Amino acid sequence: MTATQSIQPVLRSDYRPPTYWIENVELEFDLDPRETLVTARIAVRRNSQQPSDTLDLAGENLKLQSVAIDGKRLDGDQYQLRDDGMTLLNLPESCQIETKVLVSPLTNKSLSGLYQTSGNYCTQCEAVGFRRITYFLDRPDVMTTYRVTIRGDKKTCPVMLSNGNRIAAKDLDDGRHEVVWEDPFPKPSYLFALVAGNLKCHRGTFTTRSGRDVALEIWVEPQNIDKCEHALVSLQKSMKWDEDVFGLEYDLDIYMIVAVNDFNMGAMENKGLNVFNSKYVLALPDTATDEDYMLIEAVIAHEYFHNWTGNRVTCRDWFQLTLKEGLTVFRDQQFTADQTSAAVKRIDDVSGLRAGQFVEDSGPMAHPIRPESYISMDNFYTATVYRKGAEIIRMYHTILGAEGFRRGMDLYFQRHDNSAVTCDDFRAAMADANNINFDRFDRWYSQAGTPELTVTESWDAAKSEYALTMTQSYPTLPGGNPGTEDRNPVPLPVRVGLLDAESGEEIEQHSGVVMLDTETETFTFSGLSAKPIASVLRGFSAPVRLRMQRDNEELAFLMANDNDPFNRWDAGQTLATKLLIDAANGLADGRALELSEQFRDAFGRVLSDNSFDEAFKALALTLPRESVLGQEMDVIDPDSLHTARQFYRRRLAECFQSELTSLYNELAADGAYKNDQKSINRRRLKNVVLAYLSVLDVPACISRVSNQFHQADNMTDKQAALSLLANLDVPERDAALAAFYDQYKTDPLVIDKWYAVQALSSRPDTIEHVKQLTSHPDFSVDNPNRVRSLIGAFTQNQVRFHQADGAGYKLLADYVLEIESANPQLAARLVAAFNSYRRFDESRQTQMQDELKRIAEHPGLCKDVHEIVQRALHF
Ligand code: TRP
Ligand code: ZN
Repeated sequence: MTATQSIQPVLRSDYRPPTYWIENVELEFDLDPRETLVTARIAVRRNSQQPSDTLDLAGENLKLQSVAIDGKRLDGDQYQLRDDGMTLLNLPESCQIETKVLVSPLTNKSLSGLYQTSGNYCTQCEAVGFRRITYFLDRPDVMTTYRVTIRGDKKTCPVMLSNGNRIAAKDLDDGRHEVVWEDPFPKPSYLFALVAGNLKCHRGTFTTRSGRDVALEIWVEPQNIDKCEHALVSLQKSMKWDEDVFGLEYDLDIYMIVAVNDFNMGAMENKGLNVFNSKYVLALPDTATDEDYMLIEAVIAHEYFHNWTGNRVTCRDWFQLTLKEGLTVFRDQQFTADQTSAAVKRIDDVSGLRAGQFVEDSGPMAHPIRPESYISMDNFYTATVYRKGAEIIRMYHTILGAEGFRRGMDLYFQRHDNSAVTCDDFRAAMADANNINFDRFDRWYSQAGTPELTVTESWDAAKSEYALTMTQSYPTLPGGNPGTEDRNPVPLPVRVGLLDAESGEEIEQHSGVVMLDTETETFTFSGLSAKPIASVLRGFSAPVRLRMQRDNEELAFLMANDNDPFNRWDAGQTLATKLLIDAANGLADGRALELSEQFRDAFGRVLSDNSFDEAFKALALTLPRESVLGQEMDVIDPDSLHTARQFYRRRLAECFQSELTSLYNELAADGAYKNDQKSINRRRLKNVVLAYLSVLDVPACISRVSNQFHQADNMTDKQAALSLLANLDVPERDAALAAFYDQYKTDPLVIDKWYAVQALSSRPDTIEHVKQLTSHPDFSVDNPNRVRSLIGAFTQNQVRFHQADGAGYKLLADYVLEIESANPQLAARLVAAFNSYRRFDESRQTQMQDELKRIAEHPGLCKDVHEIVQRALHF
């Protein structure tokens, strides 16, 4: 394969059905670290829609041993072999193809295909990893049934798993044994999985609503067997929720989850055999934070929900990825909202969207939720496809209501169970089930970029009429990225409420959703006795940037009175953003920093308001992150933003020191660890309060943080205190870091936290520490969690990564080059930290561009990194 061949983009418009379908497949694995023999027998039948006697099978990094058709071995001139696959010619209408290949799990560091992790075998096939296991029609529209025979060493591989049901097992000679698995459900190859090794099982059961018993099995390394109960309970809750809310029942008699240490993403929904990053399975109060517990529950739910939205109904081609991911993220968000607090969950999700997806959508990687082209599909498992995709699904839900949405889902499954479909099919099911036209909604799938929604108001006292004029537009992007030309207005559901300006009370008859279907429209509200205050885009009802001129009084009013909790929170964030950007800009003009009295008073009201639950209060007291603030600056100035934000934090802490101290003391008196929702919320608030107190340079405050660290009986409090100490220049810092390391050195997931708190430190010498940590004996470039916890976390540390001398940029580029050939997926994710370079001053831009060029010129650069870097350089 020449370099130019490998970097040809794949286009959505090039979709063609395959020339053959696969009727069933038999796989045999003879496991060996360096030479695993994979035998595949594939029964194929010509696709009458696509008459051709030629069949292209994908294959990568395979050592072909033999090919046979209907038992007859082929000579070298009867097929064409390429680096990315093989072509079989003159095939009959139907036949059986048998291939034998060798693969090397031990040396496979890409974590795609069959690889070893902590001495065990495991597979990752999405999106295109199955072709690294055997020659195949490795595309999601080819669904078939699998029968899998695994042979392995009894000592090193006592446990051997694959999808579906275990139908046979026997001992062989030479200390080996054999297990046979059969999956009755047809599936695409990306859902195949095999796991083998020395694992222990934490078991449970679930009885479905129709009365079937399902065996639940969580497989982990022996030392982790005591850390599985939370994952199991999360799975049981997820199964129940999908029955209650969507009427969806699990279909096999067994559901297995395996936790592995080396994994490129969060988890994978392989049919009946999920493979998880151990970070999203293992938890004890002493090793996992409240946030970890929540994430585990959410990821377990996400993968479980894929069984219907992804596996039973799958994607026709990879451009349709959001069909399963956007929908499944929406489902897991609703699930978490039901388990915890809908308002807090919504705020967390929108913060994540703004911090991650909005940035992506305004940079070189901007793409529609259904992309038009890719070089490496792995680069399109993005915030846009997942999170913006979930927002698009949420809009159907907002427009149709829960019942209408459910009717659409029912029709979707009725029409498409056991098939591979498109986003258009989903949209059609939602429309047809509700007799509604969703044609215009198509634009949400084909246009990139975040729409801006500009809202102006007018009040006609004579007519007692209030009007909101809403206008939508798309910002222009410099790139010429597909999906950013000729963009048209999208249907926007805007949830609105009107508040009485005197009493702050809701004027009920005017609350609801208005639809902005065109570029601009005016919505009039009549019968009002005085000009109201509008609350617009409640619950963040559409993924847009809201532009509405508000003075500080009005924002403070909404902060105090809006009964939509999302907007109540957002008003505070908008006010803080305005003030902090102004303060940061002022620094450049030599203006002194000053805490706004309005903001101080609003902050004080939140602090003393006991009508909020603690988790909401924690969010309302938190200033927008530096990366979110940066987006609102014309040119991001990381230093002045950091200085301004730190100044605000310190001034607020000084002004409210006694209130914060007594609130901390009250919350800290909760006693021994409990993990009910109330206790979790109280810890969240306590640690936000502690963070304010920690910036006061007084010994009492430092010892309070240090005491919390040393006395904590749970990881939430311990990690929170450690990350605050990590920002300080005090002896307590080093003592705490050393104690933490010493206590947890045998637990890699906890040591990841130790790396991350140091990489995220706001100290000016952070980059020096990060460099030193890369040569720490525990640092390994083979483990993605470790790389993300140090290098990945560092790139999120806006003020330190963007240090003016470019040292942070060089460090990132060096690591990208160090890992790109072994693990292209991971390297490509890291290098995306350069994607925002156009948003910075000239000197930083040039330095980032130089690093991008250095990477681009690297001989033999992998195509994943190539794609990101080229898009960035041409932006
Ligand atoms: N489908 C997985 C999910 O539910 C994503 C995923 C897991 C993945 N591992 C991967 C995607 C490896 C690409 C490569 O989110
Ligand atoms: Zn998913």
